[in-house]
Amino acid sequence: MHRLRTSPRLLGALLLLAAAGAPAAGAAPSVASATLSSAPRPLGRIVPAPASVTPGGPPYTLTAATRIRVDRGHRAARAVGHYLAGVLRPSTGFPLPVVDAAAARGGILLRLRPADAALGDEGYRLESGPGGVTLTARGPAGLFHGVQTLRQQLPAEVERDTVRPGPWTVAGGAVTDVPRFAYRGAMLDVSRHFFTVAQVKRYIDRLAVYKINKLHLHLSDDQGWRIAVDSWPRLATHGGSTQVGGGPGGHYTKDDYREIVRYAASRYQEVVPEIDMPGHSNAALASYPGLNCDGVAPPLYTGTSVGFSSLCVAEPRTYDFVDDVIRELAALTPGRHLHIGGDEAHSTGHADYVAFMDRAQRIVAKYGKSVIGWHQLTGAVPAPGALVQYWGLDRSPAAEKERVALAARNGTGLVLSPADRVYLDMKYTADTPLGHTWAGYVDVRRSYDWDPGAYLPGVPESAVRGVEAPLWTERIATDAQLDRMAFPRLPGVAELGWSPAATHDWETYRVRLAEQGPRLAALGIDYHRSSQVPWPVGPVPGG
Ligand code: ACM
Repeated sequence: MHRLRTSPRLLGALLLLAAAGAPAAGAAPSVASATLSSAPRPLGRIVPAPASVTPGGPPYTLTAATRIRVDRGHRAARAVGHYLAGVLRPSTGFPLPVVDAAAARGGILLRLRPADAALGDEGYRLESGPGGVTLTARGPAGLFHGVQTLRQQLPAEVERDTVRPGPWTVAGGAVTDVPRFAYRGAMLDVSRHFFTVAQVKRYIDRLAVYKINKLHLHLSDDQGWRIAVDSWPRLATHGGSTQVGGGPGGHYTKDDYREIVRYAASRYQEVVPEIDMPGHSNAALASYPGLNCDGVAPPLYTGTSVGFSSLCVAEPRTYDFVDDVIRELAALTPGRHLHIGGDEAHSTGHADYVAFMDRAQRIVAKYGKSVIGWHQLTGAVPAPGALVQYWGLDRSPAAEKERVALAARNGTGLVLSPADRVYLDMKYTADTPLGHTWAGYVDVRRSYDWDPGAYLPGVPESAVRGVEAPLWTERIATDAQLDRMAFPRLPGVAELGWSPAATHDWETYRVRLAEQGPRLAALGIDYHRSSQVPWPVGPVPGG
């Protein structure tokens, strides 16, 4: 495998030079000339940065005769071919039939080579030249991620849903790409505000562009219970009947949830469902008096305080509830992981917390799943195989970080979601109308410019399973608000999860990210125009 032939720093310097002749956008260098010319996008200048790029040779240009060729007999690979056709047809206007590989030559070939061990479970190779583009992977997940690379090599206008003139050209050369981390997640809080199945699918499609592979759904909290449980029906019908601010809320039926899982799987994302326990549980407590130590159900809650609710640890019925909920959720969830929360249990005594988390983890294991918990789980005893999700801050107490590090050295895997880096609900700057400030302002550089492999003192990179960008929704209620907070920070978190540490460089990243601006716009994403990023100036074709 070849490393990037041009060092990131040198490439950045070259791009800045190339941009020097374009109209200036304040102090930031412009990339207008690089972005808007009809020359194909240089190979590998995408997000996340690929592991290895060897540019060279003439490009490939799609035409009305291009076919998408897939090895015969691979159903999932063929589905990836149809997905690719679905991305390319509206803007190119080309028919792009999906055909057996042997039935044609050239065009776009998707092929599986299960023995190509260097590509791992999710890696791919892209080879482009005048005769066509070939994507090779060991399995369909790798083909899917390769398809994201291919779409990003095409002009941003390819993302439009009406026919554009093109030309649709892919630079020549080869990309060989594997992810740094196996866990590259995004979390959506559907409890504080409910988001419909269609809204979740829309987010899944956005995440896919950046090779995210886990969709963590925060399904329960004080303000709403969002998943039907047959053995405890009032959880959804009553506990899901409102949200922050007092709106009607909502919940997913089991078929709704299955549809989300199916759709996520078609985008190679595993759904990680979370039932937050023993705190963040008012919606459940409000639904069943018997879950409360005093037998009295509290009212539904539509505010935004945290830490006031707890399941009743001494009450045997509590564990019937946990068992039923976990059993039904595990049966609906094909993925390995089940998230049991465990954060901010300020109304649960320490001994009770330890006892509760112990029992809850055993119930998860009984139903064949692996536990994920917020990092407060390290204050109890993480079960073998458990992952903890770290959401502390740079300024968090050293003792708290050391407790997490000790668990990591003892074999607990970590997913890193430092709140002052990757919480997508934090304001970018003081001017951001949406979001929170409790973890500080998180502009684009701050969310990108850290190394998950060297982040927590005393934690070896081998203990880090990956990163996740949570989006809490106390103050987020619409698709447009969700887009504004997620973009453009989410692509940076995705890059931290996917790209080798050797490609990490803010100066070149901000230029690559700037080139994503027209693509985000073409996808209909009204992203935050951070002043840290040299967004293209001037009219964007079709923009
Ligand atoms: C959290 O932000 N309470 C995990």
